[in-house]
Amino acid sequence: MNDFHVPVLLKESVDHLVSNKDGIYVDVTFGGGGHSREILDRLSSNGRLIVFDQDGETVENRISDQRITYVDSNFRYLYRYWKWLDCGRVDGVLADLGVSSHQFDTADRGFSFRFDAPIDMRMNENCEIDAADILKTYSEKELQNIFSKYGEVRNARRLSQVISDRRQQAPVRTTFELNEILGGVIVGDRAKYFAQVYQALRIEVNQEMECLKEMLEATLKILKKEGMLVAISYHSLEDRFVKRFLKSGSVDGVIQKDDFGRSLSKIKMLGKLILPSQEEMERNSRAKSAKMRVGVVL
Ligand SMILES: C[S@@+](CC[C@H](N)C(=O)[O-])C[C@H]1O[C@@H](n2cnc3c(N)ncnc32)[C@H](O)[C@@H]1O
Repeated sequence: MNDFHVPVLLKESVDHLVSNKDGIYVDVTFGGGGHSREILDRLSSNGRLIVFDQDGETVENRISDQRITYVDSNFRYLYRYWKWLDCGRVDGVLADLGVSSHQFDTADRGFSFRFDAPIDMRMNENCEIDAADILKTYSEKELQNIFSKYGEVRNARRLSQVISDRRQQAPVRTTFELNEILGGVIVGDRAKYFAQVYQALRIEVNQEMECLKEMLEATLKILKKEGMLVAISYHSLEDRFVKRFLKSGSVDGVIQKDDFGRSLSKIKMLGKLILPSQEEMERNSRAKSAKMRVGVVL
C-alpha cells in the first residue's frame, strides 16, 4: 500500500477524529486507504466507516472489512450519499485533500511536469474535460484568471498570452510541450514556477475549490453535536478556505449573528494549525506542505 501513498499526519489526524469506538466516521479521500485502516483499527465491531474516492484506480486498495462502505464518487456529493445511506448523523469526517502520490507519480495521468505524457490531470478519468482541453478552449482571460487565482502565478497575463499565441500553430497536448512554453516565461525559481502553473490547471480540471466548498457545507448537515472535522491541506488556497470555514461556519467567511451580535456558527476551530513533525517531513517529502486543521460541531 505504501507504494500507492504514504499517509501524512496519520496518528495526529485520527487521534483528533475518533473518540467513539462504536461511532460512524467518513473518510472522504480514501486514496491508498492509510487513514481508513488507522480509523478501522480504533473502531469496535459496531463502528462504521464510509469512504469516498473519485479515482477508479483506488478500487484496488479496497479493504475487506464489513464495517466499511465504499462510495465511488466525488465528495461534493457527500450530503446526497449520506441521505441515501440513511445512517444518522456521523461522529467525524476526515478530508486528506489533493492528489495521492500514485496519481502524481503515474506518468500517464499527466499531473507532473517530470514526465512526458498527455496533459490530463483528471482525478476521475470519466470526467470529460482534461487539462489539454482547458489549454485549448479557455480564452486568454480565463487562462489568466486560473493561473493567477489558483497558482498565484506572478506573470499570469504574459503566460496566457504566450499559450494563446502558441496554440494558433498547434494545440498544447503534452506536459513537455507545456514545459517548453513555460521555459520561455519563467519568473523566479523554475521548479516553483512549474509547480504553480501545474497546480492551477489541476485545481481547475478537478473543480477542487467548488468541491471543497460543497463538501465542507455538507459536514454541518451530517455531523452530530461534538462531531469532528479534520482537514489536511497541501496548498495555501485550500488551507485558507478550511480556516475561513472553521472560523465562521461559512465558506464565504460571513459569520451569521443573532440579534445580540452573537455568532450563530455551528462549528468552532479547535487549537491552531497542526504541522507534521520534522522527522515526518524528512521521511516523507509530501508532508512538507501539509497543514492540518480541526473543527468541532457546536
Ligand atoms: C491525498 S490522497 C488521500 C490519501 C489517503 N488519506 C491515504 O491514506 O492513502 C487524496 C485522495 O482523494 C481523492 N480525492 C481528491 N478530491 C476528491 C473529491 N473531490 N472527491 C473524491 N475523492 C477525491 C483523490 O482521488 C486521492 O485518491
